[in-house]
Amino acid sequence: VPAGGSTYELQVPDAATAEELKVKSTDFPSDFVFGVATSAAQVEGSPNVEGKGQSVWEYFAEKFPGTVMNNTLFPKGVDSYRRYKDDLKLVKDLGVDSYRFSIPWTRILPKGSLSGGVNQQGVDHYNSLIDELIKNGIKPSVTILHFDLPQVLQDKYGGYLNRSFIDDFKDYSDFCFKTFGDRVKNWVTINEPKVLAQYGYENGWAPPGRCSISIPGSFCTVGGNSSTEPYMVGHNLILAHATVYNLYKEKYQATQGGQIGIALNTKFYEPYSNSAEDKAAVNRMLDFELGWFVEPLVFGDYPKSMTELVKDRLPKFTEEEKSMLKGSYDFLGINYYVSAYARDVPIPLPKAMLPHAIDAKAADQQLGKDGLPLGFPTNGSYPLGLQRLLEFMKQKYQNPAIYITENGLGQMRFPNIPVEVVLKDTSRITYNLRHLNAINKAIKNGVNVKGYYSWSLLDDFEWGTGLLFQYGYYYIDFSNDYKRVPRLSAKWYPGFLQDKH
Ligand code: NOJ
Repeated sequence: VPAGGSTYELQVPDAATAEELKVKSTDFPSDFVFGVATSAAQVEGSPNVEGKGQSVWEYFAEKFPGTVMNNTLFPKGVDSYRRYKDDLKLVKDLGVDSYRFSIPWTRILPKGSLSGGVNQQGVDHYNSLIDELIKNGIKPSVTILHFDLPQVLQDKYGGYLNRSFIDDFKDYSDFCFKTFGDRVKNWVTINEPKVLAQYGYENGWAPPGRCSISIPGSFCTVGGNSSTEPYMVGHNLILAHATVYNLYKEKYQATQGGQIGIALNTKFYEPYSNSAEDKAAVNRMLDFELGWFVEPLVFGDYPKSMTELVKDRLPKFTEEEKSMLKGSYDFLGINYYVSAYARDVPIPLPKAMLPHAIDAKAADQQLGKDGLPLGFPTNGSYPLGLQRLLEFMKQKYQNPAIYITENGLGQMRFPNIPVEVVLKDTSRITYNLRHLNAINKAIKNGVNVKGYYSWSLLDDFEWGTGLLFQYGYYYIDFSNDYKRVPRLSAKWYPGFLQDKH
């Protein structure tokens, strides 16, 4: 039995059915939250102003230009720290109920730890941002950690690899609850722990860029161990989340009455063929991608397939930790974009960390032989995958409250395309409607989905891929002082929401 499987992006025509496009905001429960999202490091820029400390991404983009496209532009982001008041007007113009953003650890505690001192200018900035939202009737949803760990903590003890991270994260979160929790009622502890573990410690695409397996595209220059470190990182992130959840419940729940969850990225998977092996590969993929983080929070431990396959490379929770973990979420956040096929691949990779450490090309090479099932899209866009994912979560994870914390369409920034074309993003509108329709169907089938955050307000800096993909309702005109220009979708979203208000 191979360690996992292999994936291949679903191939489906982009066409929407008329029925999918009929979905309305009033079809959703009346308390359903519609929002839009960003993350600080991707939009703010202004790395050296008002007392900010350096984040691991700022360090990485500077030190490893080969891994981060457009790296010299990263420090400016899309200049949103300076323009936040104007950008909040854009949030308002979209007509949304809520805005998901992150507060950078490095602006609040520039030295990483509470003992290093609080940066009052940073605190003032987010107080002002939050107040402005509330004044405009928009609910803040704050992500405490969206990839931007303070570099000092990386240097001091190796960041997420070290349990000291849990203590510092707890202190930082505690400070956020104490300072902003009178107004912020929706908290996301950690964004995409799997990406932190996999990109930072398996393939080296993200800071700190540690890895040891030479898979195509990996970037292993600073040392690491791809077979163990990602699991250690995942372990500490899970414990950090649960520690902060419990802190909130004990210290703040009674007075602040908010809700707290985590944002997990996952695809949905369809079996590449009808064979029992490929069907089993689907379950493994979902276990390794989603269950890795969900099962400890729901059941107190890792999925069985992981303990069986990863064996002693997977750290263990103590009994005390298991009971602390169990039930440590008010909601599960899901970042969903695309789906893929899962395929059983008979290649033993004893050292590989994740099932899809197997090169997806191994599957590609056999495509001709098996042919693709008909009726799948060209770009991984698969709204039915979202519906099925949600129904799978209801059934497998005790019907949790779920927020779609991200969903959206990234369009490639091609040079020389007339701006009028770039602004006419009908495919984004179609993508959004189809996914909203899928969510609505899942709700009708009993899934407890409480809200939807569209990614993203603005075109932003997409980490390793720099400015290549554009997700914004607002296009950024880099050649014209970073001017924000509404796309067609920026007119569509408020129209869609209008009936609800
Ligand atoms: C997931 C990440 O949370 C976000 O930072 C990123 O920009 C989007 N996906 C789109 O790639």
